Amino acid sequence: MIFPENFVWGAATASYQIEGAVKEDGRGQSIWDTFSHTPGKVVEGDTGDVACDHYHRYKDDIGLMRELRLGAYRFSIAWPRIQPDGAGPVNPRGLAFYDKLVDELLAAEIAPYATLYHWDLPQALEDRGGWTNRDTAYRFADYAAAVHDRLGDRIHTWATLNEPWVSAYLGYGNGVHAPGRRDPAEAMRSAHHLLLGHGLAARRLRPGTVMLVVNSAPVLTPAQVSDPSAVPSEADAAAVHRIHALLTRQFLDPAVHGTYPAEVLEAAARNGGTEHIRDGDLALINAPIDLIGINYYNPCVVESGPGLPADAAWPGSEDVRFAAADAPTTAMGWPIVPDGLSRLLIRLSHDYPEVGLMVTENGAAFDDVVENGRVHDADRLAYLDGHLREVWRAVQSGADLRGYLVWSLLDNFEWAEGYRRRFGIVHVDYPTQTRVLKDSALWYRDVIARNGL
Ligand code: FCB
Repeated sequence: MIFPENFVWGAATASYQIEGAVKEDGRGQSIWDTFSHTPGKVVEGDTGDVACDHYHRYKDDIGLMRELRLGAYRFSIAWPRIQPDGAGPVNPRGLAFYDKLVDELLAAEIAPYATLYHWDLPQALEDRGGWTNRDTAYRFADYAAAVHDRLGDRIHTWATLNEPWVSAYLGYGNGVHAPGRRDPAEAMRSAHHLLLGHGLAARRLRPGTVMLVVNSAPVLTPAQVSDPSAVPSEADAAAVHRIHALLTRQFLDPAVHGTYPAEVLEAAARNGGTEHIRDGDLALINAPIDLIGINYYNPCVVESGPGLPADAAWPGSEDVRFAAADAPTTAMGWPIVPDGLSRLLIRLSHDYPEVGLMVTENGAAFDDVVENGRVHDADRLAYLDGHLREVWRAVQSGADLRGYLVWSLLDNFEWAEGYRRRFGIVHVDYPTQTRVLKDSALWYRDVIARNGL
């Protein structure tokens, strides 16, 4: 299974999950600092205060990337390092870190892919309403432009937002993520303002290749998980259709086609109204982009559930049951369904032929053990191998897929799950900050070297 000649192989991380150094060089506070320091929000009270100490160890970490021969490294820029209060003049010391990081990557012949927003909103903006406040979208675009001014000569691939569904619906819907608010109307407003921020920022990232990164997944009935040709009942098909609109089309239809699905407008109408969607917004959101970044971990499994109330993370999901899949699971409890990835990629390339696709995250948490300085993570290796076979199949079927980035380079702060969930292909021993390449990393190095499986 050999991949196309220019196929990009890489790995991904995010600022708050790895950097640490939360008080250094003028960094402001983010919503994740506040949230992780609030008792009861994160397992074991873990915080990103130190994380992988990547802020100080980035050179060694790039050394590991070089060893693996990564072609690209997707990292995120911490907005509170650039604008400690989320607005106004940039903090030169914050920018200097990314400046050095990028130069070091380029010297190692690794393409830097920068995500501008991977969830660490400046707390000062949250104090003014966060993403429920329309102004945050404009602040985001100004921040994006400031970063592009300084780094756009060396960073050629930009992601505006990482997973706006998660920001809006876990941050403001079910409150599992920062800022921990629980209000369906606020969540839907936030989703729209995130999209607006994306569209405004996308215009200010030229020259450059611009992408929007979404957490997408095929929405399947329980029977379709193992049998793609299973024909659902009419009621189940309607549930699938609606959840697909809320999860994926809510973001990609406005960004790529300048329209909202009717299901999203109906959900908004039932949850606080649609006044926040102003005339002209869809045209602003519909800024040209080059790529859709897809973060895939598991399918979304639903069936009809008459009388059920909407799930807190899914305003508009009345009468839908979120079901378990008949499949083995990772340490997160997420079902392992590799061909969900090929089904998704083929569907998206069909629905959004105007843009290219890139898998910007895929990977798995398992309970690793270090034995004599090695980590034999056979489960993770099998997960990655199985998913890459499906990526290859999608390419064979004609999907315009440009690359694949593993989540994650390093074990790191897994949000509300803290450090107990390890997604890295590199093991991190937190007390000593020792890094060890897991078996999956050594295997990935060989995949990259032969450009295939
Ligand atoms: C995604 C996030 C990423 C990581 C993985 C496991 O939703 O983008 O930061 O937490 O899940």
